[in-house]
Amino acid sequence: MNTEIIKIDPNNIDISLIDRAADVIRGGGLAVFPTETVYGLGANTFDPAAVAKIYAAKGRPSDNPLISHVCRLEQVYELAAEVPNQALRLMERFWGGPLTVILKRGANVPDIVSAGLDTVSIRFPSHAVAYELIRRSGVPIAAPSANLSGSPSPTAARHAIDDMYGRVDIIIDGGDSLIGVESTVVDLTSEVPTILRPGAVTADQIAEITGVCVYGGDYANAPKCPGMKYTHYSPRARVWAVKNMDDIPRDGNSVILTYGAGDYDRPVYNAGETAADYAAKLFYFLRRADEDGYGTVYARLPEEEGIGIAVRNRLLKSAGGKVI
Ligand code: TXA
Ligand code: MG
Repeated sequence: MNTEIIKIDPNNIDISLIDRAADVIRGGGLAVFPTETVYGLGANTFDPAAVAKIYAAKGRPSDNPLISHVCRLEQVYELAAEVPNQALRLMERFWGGPLTVILKRGANVPDIVSAGLDTVSIRFPSHAVAYELIRRSGVPIAAPSANLSGSPSPTAARHAIDDMYGRVDIIIDGGDSLIGVESTVVDLTSEVPTILRPGAVTADQIAEITGVCVYGGDYANAPKCPGMKYTHYSPRARVWAVKNMDDIPRDGNSVILTYGAGDYDRPVYNAGETAADYAAKLFYFLRRADEDGYGTVYARLPEEEGIGIAVRNRLLKSAGGKVI
């Protein structure tokens, strides 16, 4: 397939370029676009043939449902059978932003979007390019992360291009994703709001609105959140999650991935000062390790708080549970 690549500056959006991608979405094609979390691989939610192309382009298992991206509240009512009050309050507080809500599925949502489940997942991104693309397309956009299934999600345009060139109609280069880990997925169809995938919006922040919100832990939600059961976020290099940076073994072909200060006996990717900096660069550096030819990445496990909870979740999956 011929893939067009266009560059759009989120701070100075050229609507005629947005319309090139919106035409692709309306015409039943695939468009890769930036969001504040990771790059997405989008198609018209209401076009089952277009959505089928997403699964093919990624090599995604067909039992793994997709998030529909919206740009206004009315679109939630086109997708969900019911919109409970607490969902509205969460949307008001966290949209646009990195929160995906799971609601009861409305009659218009094609089976293939929800992978046959009776629920639908919905997110309103804050990224200006994503927002304009959804708005000009005029339909909700079903979009998983724009990586080949199993690989780390792309947070730089170049990484989305590496995986999706030749598989999609158009790729929008809108710069780097600022958050770097995918949205928090919260299930609002269970008795108690339940985090199925941790992200930048934490269970504590959600509980401030809903009174209670639980997270069952990194391996608890596989049956409910199909995506979490697959091997994930893995570069070709072996990844180890490291609790204590003093315990890293000697290894001539390895790199250390960390943040904050520290002296090491080998090459280091330093993501910055904070856990948020680390989140922003985690997937980027996992892919860099392959580009730079390292066989092993020793990656620091951050503290279990704030966005560190999401980083630990991705890192543990990327390492296949291997912890030092
Ligand atoms: O930040 C994000 O959420 C990015 C950007 C592009 O918006 N998207 C993303 O999509 O990460 P994806 O498909 O890579 O991950 C969605 C996750 C999967 O683990 C999937 O199983 C789960 O959400 N999910 C989607 N719909 C669901 C549903 N109805 N019930 C349970 N889990 C659902
Ligand atoms: Mg994904």
